[in-house]
Formats: sequence, structure tokens, C-alpha cells
Amino acid sequence: MQFDTVIHDGTLVNASETARGDIGIRDGRIVAMAERLSGGDQRIDAGGRLVMPGGIEGHAHIAQESSGGVMGADDYYSGSVSAAFGGNASFIPFAAQRRGQSIDDVIATYDARGARSVLDYSYHLIVSDPTREVLEDQLPRAFARGITSFKVFMTYDLMNIGDGGMLDILTVARTHGAVTMVHAENNDMVKWMNARLAAKGLTAPKYHAISRPELAEEEAINRAIALAKLADAPLFIVHVSTAGGAAIVQREILSGARLYAETCPQYLALTRDDLDRPGMEGAKFICSPPLRDAATQAALWGHVRSGTFSSVSSDHAPYRFDESGKFRNGAEAPYPQIANGMPGIGARLPYLFSEGVVKGRISLEQFVQLSASNAARIFGMTSKGSLMPGMDADIAIWDPETTRRVTLGDQHDNMDYTPFEGMELTGVPETVLNRGSMIVHKGRLMAQEGQGRFVPRAPAKLDGPGHTAKERDPAQNFGTDI
Ligand code: URP
Ligand code: ZN
Ligand code: ZN
Repeated sequence: MQFDTVIHDGTLVNASETARGDIGIRDGRIVAMAERLSGGDQRIDAGGRLVMPGGIEGHAHIAQESSGGVMGADDYYSGSVSAAFGGNASFIPFAAQRRGQSIDDVIATYDARGARSVLDYSYHLIVSDPTREVLEDQLPRAFARGITSFKVFMTYDLMNIGDGGMLDILTVARTHGAVTMVHAENNDMVKWMNARLAAKGLTAPKYHAISRPELAEEEAINRAIALAKLADAPLFIVHVSTAGGAAIVQREILSGARLYAETCPQYLALTRDDLDRPGMEGAKFICSPPLRDAATQAALWGHVRSGTFSSVSSDHAPYRFDESGKFRNGAEAPYPQIANGMPGIGARLPYLFSEGVVKGRISLEQFVQLSASNAARIFGMTSKGSLMPGMDADIAIWDPETTRRVTLGDQHDNMDYTPFEGMELTGVPETVLNRGSMIVHKGRLMAQEGQGRFVPRAPAKLDGPGHTAKERDPAQNFGTDI
């Protein structure tokens, strides 16, 4: 057989097994896997190193305005380059609707932005204005184009669509086979806390952590699950930050709900004490939901290990530590006026590998599940997320032994800080291929701007039996079709 590339002598890791061998690639796809393959126009000697599916980053804000109108620092070029250096071969950022904007216009806008990507990409569609036209015409059209996940917010005044809006979107998603993602925090609880803190003049960055109570996340997660059950639609809860929220998700998954969730490295690695760094330094660590405490970190790691979370995603939301980002509203802005979010697309997988695999908290196979294969399955990237003949040759070769300190320079993004600065991490993604083409190799960018392709996604393959509320079951509701 003719190969464009052979990866030789790798420790090949998939979601359910690990084996030693070679991979043959032709025309961007894996075409053979065997103990030994000869030939290949290009041979990459893995020397026993780990050969894994390239990461799929499922939660990143790239070339996206925040709810307060601040444009993030990374575009599809810098964001995808940073992702690639961090072991990812594709990503699914958000395409965000402004109120009053049509979904067709949103997609056209992000198509123009996405064209700069060095990695394959898709978008999750953020819906902030679920009008009748959006629900009946525009979302189905987006779905037909292969955008098979929608995201909604239960917080932020300009994004929150209310419970009724959420039920409407869940219903459209159910009809078409899309997954609805949700940022779950109770908006009124947060606003009530904000008002109390403001009345006492407590506006330093650390009060951000106080303003968004764990109860606000737990309540909203419970509510979101109830709404999804009433609509009998699958739900994906993003950036779970609390032990209580994770426990609710675990209980519901065990009882058969079509429910998925992720957490993020910042909730595993950092605490609210980081928000209390001197001066305005704490602003670097403002994200929502906020950082919690050490006990929460331990509980979240337990849920990463036990399978409550299908992914660990970055929630890369890059706002520079200057007037273009965090301090858009002034250098001493009160915490509610500081842009929410932190960068992390380049650090996600090195962090998860080092703190997860190297420290023995998760297996290599779990690393593949959490970094790529679950996202591929849930978000319908059917040709990605595993090493198998027929799949895209999206591959990351990891040196599992080298230890490095995280530096801003190694992130390759457009940011002026990394929240993970100085952390010592073992394991380096040395080579990344996207559809067989080398994107990163030994610390060098090999890709051309714009070589990534938009990936039309399939409907999700979902677990669990779903849920029929009694009141929607004709056998129990006087025969009503509702
Ligand atoms: O603070 C965060 N996470 N900012 C990005 C927007 C969001 O809520 O995901
Ligand atoms: Zn969010
Ligand atoms: Zn986010």
C-alpha cells in the first residue's frame, strides 16, 4: 500500500485500548494500522512515544465579542495556533448571536473569521434571541449546514433567554438531533449578590468569587436538567465549577438522563485565593463561574476520574490585562465591569496530561476520552477523535517524560498573561497532524494560515433512554399530544 506518511513505532492510544504499532496515512486519512508498515513518502519515528487522537477543544471563545461587547484577543489564526501547540487537531469555538441579529448573519460573520484557522473547526451556535424566525427557519438551516450544537445562557442580562426561551431551543434541538449546551448560573441570585456587595463598596476582583455563589450554579444546573427533561432533549452543561453541581450531574446520568458535562483546568488548578492577588492582579482570574476552593478541586478531580465529565475543556476566553481587555472600563474598574474569562487553550491538554495521567488520577485511555473522543461523539465530529482506518489523520504525538514550566511564550496566543504561569507540567505534545498535514513539530509551526477546514457535523449519537414527563405522555395525560 502507498502511504503519504507512516508514523512508526508508536504507543497508539485510543479511548478503550493501547497498542504498539504503526499508522499509515494517505490523502489526509488513516488507511492502515499494523505492527509494522513499510514505505511512506514521509516517515515519522515515534520511538515508542504516545500517539493519540489530536485533541478536540470543545469550548473556546475565538474572535468573539463578550456579552459586554469586548472582542477577545485571539482570532482564528492565533487561537488555532495556540490550540495546535497544546496538542489539539481541531476545535469548536462559539458563533455568538447578538440580539436582533439573524443566525444566517452570525454564520456568515464567523465563516469569514474561521477562514484563518490552521486547524479544522466548527462552531457551537450561541442563541441569545430565540424569535419565531430563529426557531422555525434559521436554526433548522444552521443545523442542515452541519452546526449541530446550540448554546444558551441562564446568566448575563444580554444573553439570558429565560426558561421559556430555553424550552423553545431545547425543543428545536430535539427535533433535529442537536445538543443544547448551557452556562448554568442563576442570574437573579448573582444580581442580588452584586447589589449587596456594591452597597457596601466591595468591588475589588476578589468579590467576583463572592458574587456568584455555588448555590447559583447548583440551582441553575437543577433547573436546566428539569427543562431538558420536560423537552426530552439532550443537554450539555459547560464549565461545571462546584462539587454540588457535579454531584447533581452524576446522579442524573446514573438515573439515565441524556446529560453531559465538562469542567475546565482552571477549576482544577486555581482557587478563589488567586482573585485576591495584590492590586488588580486578581482581574486575571475573573471568569464565570468563578474559581472556588481546594476542597472543590478535589471533588471535581473525583468526578473527572469517575466519568461524570465527558470532557475537560479550556473555556478559552482571552481578554488581555490592559485597556483592550480586562480594563476596557478603566484600570480600577469594579469587578462586574471587568471582562469575564481567562485564556487556556494551549495549556488545557498539557495540564490534563500532567496532573491527570502523570499523577495517576486518570488513565491514558481516559485522557483520550476527555480530550477528544467524547467531544467527537457528542458533537458529531464523526471522522475525528479516534485512531482507526477511515478516520481523519488528526494525530498528536506526545513525549510523556519531558517536564517544562508553563510560560506565556509557550502558549503562542495573543495574550499578555497565562493564569498557569510557572506551573511545572510533565508531557509535551511534540507533533500535531490535522488531516495528515503536520501543523506543529518539535516547537515549530509548520502550518499555513487558513489551511483548516470547516467540518460539517452529524447529529449526536446520544446515550440514555431520554425522558418523557408524565404530562407529555398520551397514556397519562388524557391522550393529549403536547
Ligand atoms: O468567564 C467566562 N467563562 N467567560 C466566557 C464566557 C462564558 O461564560 O463562557
Ligand atoms: Zn460560560
Ligand atoms: Zn465559555
